[in-house]
Amino acid sequence: MSVFAYRHGELHAEALPVSRLAAEVGTPFFCYSHAAIASAYDEFATAVKGLPALVCYALKANSNLAVIASLARRGAGADVVSEGELRQALAAGIPPEKIIFSGVGKTAAEMRFALETGIRQLNIESLPELRLLDQVARAVGRKAPVALRVNPDVDARTHAKISTGKAENKFGIELGLIREAYREAAGLAGIEVRGLALHIGSQLTDLEPYRAAFTRLAELTAELRRQGLAVDRLDLGGGIGIAYRGEQPPSIADYVRVVRETVAPLGTELVFEPGRRLVGNAGILVSRVLFVKPGASRDFVIIDAAMNDLLRPALYDAYHAILPVAEPASDAPVKRFDVVGPICESGDRMAEQRPLPPLQPGDLLAICQAGAYSAVMGSGYNTRLPAPEILVHGDAFDIVRARPDYQAILARDHVPGWLEPVPG
Ligand code: LLP
Repeated sequence: MSVFAYRHGELHAEALPVSRLAAEVGTPFFCYSHAAIASAYDEFATAVKGLPALVCYALKANSNLAVIASLARRGAGADVVSEGELRQALAAGIPPEKIIFSGVGKTAAEMRFALETGIRQLNIESLPELRLLDQVARAVGRKAPVALRVNPDVDARTHAKISTGKAENKFGIELGLIREAYREAAGLAGIEVRGLALHIGSQLTDLEPYRAAFTRLAELTAELRRQGLAVDRLDLGGGIGIAYRGEQPPSIADYVRVVRETVAPLGTELVFEPGRRLVGNAGILVSRVLFVKPGASRDFVIIDAAMNDLLRPALYDAYHAILPVAEPASDAPVKRFDVVGPICESGDRMAEQRPLPPLQPGDLLAICQAGAYSAVMGSGYNTRLPAPEILVHGDAFDIVRARPDYQAILARDHVPGWLEPVPG
């Protein structure tokens, strides 16, 4: 059951009426549920029981410290892609030995920081990156624990912009080159090559691409071992989808069954890097209707949240369910609206021709599945203040990221003193 549900005629977040939260926090704001995060993690943890597995939450999905800390307290590790995320993982209490550093473009400074911190492993995506890490590691007097990310060339059958495991994607080392790369890594003084990694894409709702990729990974592992190379860790990436619009994503138990059938018999340590699945359903974006604008060809609902708060619809044509916070009567008439934000771009549209009950200025709407890739992808476009984030826990909530004030925004910039004075 969703933690965001109608009760007594209005939408609640756990035990709290969303309208009360809106009155206290002001709109727009992101509202996360601790119970939803905990239960998503527990589904994963239960499914991997008995396997030598570590669940490393992919921080990129939502890097609010309170969200990371909620997962850390349940035992999660972290998958990070920048020094910034690495620092967030540490600040949220994740021990370095549970942190993996992924990403195609790590800098030497980031590598140094990761090595000095003593993280579990760096996932390496190209030979130039491997050679740079070797140099950096030798300079700091450490051996860098590494997994080589292979591009298995499988079609994840997801949105092209979030597919990562095809040969034409920038990610990972090509299958044809990986054996050579592994051998080279095994011979470098600054590198301790531990195993292989892959991640084929995001928002997968079908298990077959995983089966294909994991099978290739198992064959490759066996082949490297036959050549006398040690492979004792396999990192299986993330990517398991959630339901935005009636999709039927697999259970974690079914996904882990594929893992047990393909790679588990090799007896390696396993790493999982889920992001969206742990936090996507755990958040909503709450927004207020500013105006209802009838048009010649379509009617618009103009709301106070925009593409700077939630970019996914503009960037991927992503569908997010939108619920009125006041529960509509079951016989309420329904009309189609374009739900749009105030930003000066036609792409600033949360939904196109969406059936909704009659709406008035001041009404509240909840944009659903806004726990993953939502606040983190926000921007300051049109100098709109970033939406605050709150974490609900039963009948209580905390503001876990406050809305900054305009003073803080203005203070970021500096006007050089040598500019001529304003005329007049
Ligand atoms: N591991 C690696 C190496 C990744 O690149 C990603 C996501 C993950 C794990 C976590 O994937 P997840 O379990 O969350 O699917 N902004 C897009 C999603 C981009 C995903 C990028 N990589 C969206 O809003 O749909």
